[in-house]
Amino acid sequence: MADVSRRRALGLLGAGAVGAGVAGLGVTGVRAATDPAPSAPVVPFHGAHQAGITTPVQGHLHFASYDVTARDRAGLVALLQRWTAAAEALTAGREVGRDGAVGGPALAPPEDTGEALGHDASRLTITVGFGPSLFDGRYGLADRRPAALADLPRFAGDALRPERSGGDLCVQACADDPQVAVHAVRNLTRLAAGAAAVRWAQLGFGRAASTSAAEETPRNLFGFKDGTANVLADDDAALDEHVWAAAGDGADWMAGGSYLVARDVRMVIETWDRTSLQEQELVVGRTKGEGAPLGRTSERDPLVPSELPLRSHVRLAHPDNHGGARMLRRGYNTVDGTDGVGHLDAGLFFLAYQRDPRRAFVPVQRALARDDLLGEYLRHVGSSLWAVPPGVRPGQWLGQSLLG
Ligand code: HEM
Repeated sequence: MADVSRRRALGLLGAGAVGAGVAGLGVTGVRAATDPAPSAPVVPFHGAHQAGITTPVQGHLHFASYDVTARDRAGLVALLQRWTAAAEALTAGREVGRDGAVGGPALAPPEDTGEALGHDASRLTITVGFGPSLFDGRYGLADRRPAALADLPRFAGDALRPERSGGDLCVQACADDPQVAVHAVRNLTRLAAGAAAVRWAQLGFGRAASTSAAEETPRNLFGFKDGTANVLADDDAALDEHVWAAAGDGADWMAGGSYLVARDVRMVIETWDRTSLQEQELVVGRTKGEGAPLGRTSERDPLVPSELPLRSHVRLAHPDNHGGARMLRRGYNTVDGTDGVGHLDAGLFFLAYQRDPRRAFVPVQRALARDDLLGEYLRHVGSSLWAVPPGVRPGQWLGQSLLG
């Protein structure tokens, strides 16, 4: 069942194919991409870089951080191999495992949890990263930790919760269909049983950044366009300079990878909503409707930091103030119900990819934490840092350059 797309699988079931066995599977139990017409739209899993970084931002996110519990390095490698095989299948719109959700023995738990049956691949991407704690010596990796994976410093105003921070491994699953993203993380988590356990997870929606000039810039929950001045996916020179780690950077196994900073930023929506439009625009440094730099008329007009309020968000974050440093932002809006005292528990799950956080996120956030007027309406409650290794070629597995 696993060699057909989930959509076709449903059709076959209707035709009475329940229980049909599938022969000729590899040891992983997941077939190579033999489906002649995989469900579109599919984002290729294989490539020089992992998908999910420059991929045009999908509508939904399920992000999970894991503590590795594998007894030894072989256990960690086996987990990454299982995840690679499953990610190949899931991103192609196929089921996990030999028999999928309903093709296996009636007396055994199904290999695939089934809630994505009938859903196409929905541009699912699965991006895996390694946290600083993975290099603590348990798996013989202490001398492989990249200098760029230095622990983030404490920033002014941080209200970080340990249970919303850190982790050994992360999975960023993005898809246009939330059920597909959730299904991916759920099944990867199942495959991790005995080798890794979820530490924390976050759902996100309504992409809060764009990575392509062709997309309409989306809005965050403060109602402002977010992603206007982003590093764009088709700007190869900027990606090489600011996003992709290179062989000469100090950790050869990271060449073609990137470093991800994830921050769980809660937004004090009620206070913001009582703030005048003029004040909101002065705080951000752009207009709310068009997204133009203050004093200009359109979104793509040049932004001259010195023309903007001294403590506005975009002036403080601008590359001119940080030696030209840029990041590829790819965050998502979050609403996790209410906080128990009547406020919307809303925020931005800030995701930024960069070549070296010591030269990008750290100085920018240091400046923002100190002076940003927007900070009055924000609370950083979660933080994590990840080395996202390069992409996987057919036949390779995630993290092979580090652990192979
Ligand atoms: C809830 C938190 C945040 C909100 C609501 C927010 C909102 C915005 C908005 C509306 C813009 C203008 C549009 C654009 O160019 O994308 C912007 C730009 C930017 N933000 Fe944020 N932001 C947040 C957190 C952060 C954090 C934590 C960082 C990094 C430490 C950051 C870095 C930047 C950068 C680098 C720019 C582009 C500046 C430029 O080159 O013009 N933001 N943000």
